[in-house]
Amino acid sequence: AMPVSNIPDSMRLDRLLSQVTGLSRNHVKSLLRGDNVEVDGVSVRDAALQVNATQAITLREDAVEWPRERYVMLNKPAGYVCSTAEGAYPLVASLVDAPWADGLHSAGRLDADSTGLVLLTNDGQWSHALTSPRRQCVKSYVVTVKHPLQPGLVKRFAEGLMLNGEREPTLPAQLELIDTHTARVQICEGRYHQVKRMIAACSNRVVTLHREAIGHLVLDAALNPGEWRELTPEEISGV
Ligand code: URA
Repeated sequence: AMPVSNIPDSMRLDRLLSQVTGLSRNHVKSLLRGDNVEVDGVSVRDAALQVNATQAITLREDAVEWPRERYVMLNKPAGYVCSTAEGAYPLVASLVDAPWADGLHSAGRLDADSTGLVLLTNDGQWSHALTSPRRQCVKSYVVTVKHPLQPGLVKRFAEGLMLNGEREPTLPAQLELIDTHTARVQICEGRYHQVKRMIAACSNRVVTLHREAIGHLVLDAALNPGEWRELTPEEISGV
């Protein structure tokens, strides 16, 4: 299912406070009991009170801003997964050390062992526009492989390859040889394990896979593995 924005027009007071501060619901409830919260100038103790974006809400006299859309680029290290359900590996969102990180989902995925650019947002429309197959936005990867790369691969990637178990060949893709075991690959699709399977279809094997760019969004060279930053307004609206 397509993720939707998790920002409602109204919500329970305790949920708002815990989302904005990152504090637990229990901690928030004890703050409420201690008369630390005001709504439109009146002290409120009711955790279940429905509040909305037009109201002036303060916590210990500091204004509480209504949650907003967030857009993050992350340099994903190996060993993290781009899902929302925790399994064998920790989630990429756990690398985003901000109180609002909880509601983020990734726009497109990288495998657990892949590294590089992952985009995270709570804006479902934005991530859908970016990942929609109809838009065919170009994803750029640097891949290292086990066996030497044959020059003939450039043509095979450009013509489209049959992947194991699929009926339709891949769309034209670009492969640029960097050295004997390294290439830059650009694809417009996002099939399951696509780059690894394209390399496998050419009797080779991916050793490392690093994403450099999604459409016009390029991984910031200043971000070390595990680091993130919010997108600029230009980066957000260029989608
Ligand atoms: N192709 C893959 O095989 N894995 C990724 O993580 C991304 C593209």
